[in-house]
Amino acid sequence: MMAFGEAIRIKTRREVDAMREAARHVAEVLLELRELAKPGVTTRDLDQHARKAIQKRGVQSSFLGYGPHGLPPYPGVVCVSVNDEIVHGIPGGRVLEEGDVVSVDFGVSYEGYHGDSAFTVTLGSTSAEAQRLVEATREALDRGIEQMVPGKRLSDIGHAVQVRAESEGFSVVRQFVGHGIGREMHEPPQIPNYGPAGRGPRLKPGMVFAIEPMVTAGGPDVAILEDEWTAVTADGSLAAHFEHTILITDHGPEVLTRAPGSH
Ligand code: MF3
Ligand code: CO
Repeated sequence: MMAFGEAIRIKTRREVDAMREAARHVAEVLLELRELAKPGVTTRDLDQHARKAIQKRGVQSSFLGYGPHGLPPYPGVVCVSVNDEIVHGIPGGRVLEEGDVVSVDFGVSYEGYHGDSAFTVTLGSTSAEAQRLVEATREALDRGIEQMVPGKRLSDIGHAVQVRAESEGFSVVRQFVGHGIGREMHEPPQIPNYGPAGRGPRLKPGMVFAIEPMVTAGGPDVAILEDEWTAVTADGSLAAHFEHTILITDHGPEVLTRAPGSH
C-alpha cells in the first residue's frame, strides 16, 4: 500500500483528452443504465446492456477480469449493489424490486486511459430515509469535488465528504477509498472519504481522481460475501454510492464523467 504522500502523476494534455473520451462513454452508458434499472429487470440485464454498449463504442471494460491481491477475477462489466450491498455487487439473476436502493458502478478505458463512475437510484416509492441517504451521498460527492482546487490539500476532499454525510447521522465507509486514475484504474493516491482537513499533498492542475463516497444509514462496518467481492453493511443497513472521475484544472474541478442530465 502506498504512503499518503507518494507522488501523484500529472496528466499530459494528450492523456487528458483520452480520459475525457473514456469518461464521456462511461457517463453516457450510465445514463442508459439508469433508464433500464426498473422493477422486474435483473442485475444481469444491466450487465448485458453495458457489454453491448462497450462493443458498439469500441472501448474496453475496466472491471471485467480485474483481480487485485488474489481476488477471483471480477466477472462483470458493471457492479450492481442493492439495498445493504455497498459496492462490488456481481450481476446475476437477482430481480430488482419496487423500493430497492440500487447502485450501479461502471468503468471503461479508451486508448489505454480509464474513466470510472457510479450512481444510486431508488426504484419507485421507497422510505424517506432511503431517499435522504441517496441525496446525502450525492451531495457528499459534490462537497468533495468542490475541494478539488489547486492549492488545497488532498485530505480536504475526504473531510468535506465526511462532514456532509455525517450531518444527517449517516456513516461513511472506511474500508474502500477513492483513487487516482489514468493508465491504471487505480493509481496513487488513495482518497479516504473521511479524516481531518489540511493534510497530504497539495492539489495541482493535471491531477485526475475518482472520488467515490460510500455512505450507510447505520454504522460504517463492512462484511464481504462468499463470492469474495460483494461488500455489504455489517448491520444490514441501506447503503448508497456515487462516483465521478474529475480533472483538477487551473480554474477548479472538471467532472469528466458528468454528461448532461447525469448525477
Ligand atoms: N469504482 C470501483 C473501484 O474503484 C470499481 C471497481 S469494480 C471492479 O473500486 F470490479 F473492477 F473491481
Ligand atoms: Co473507482
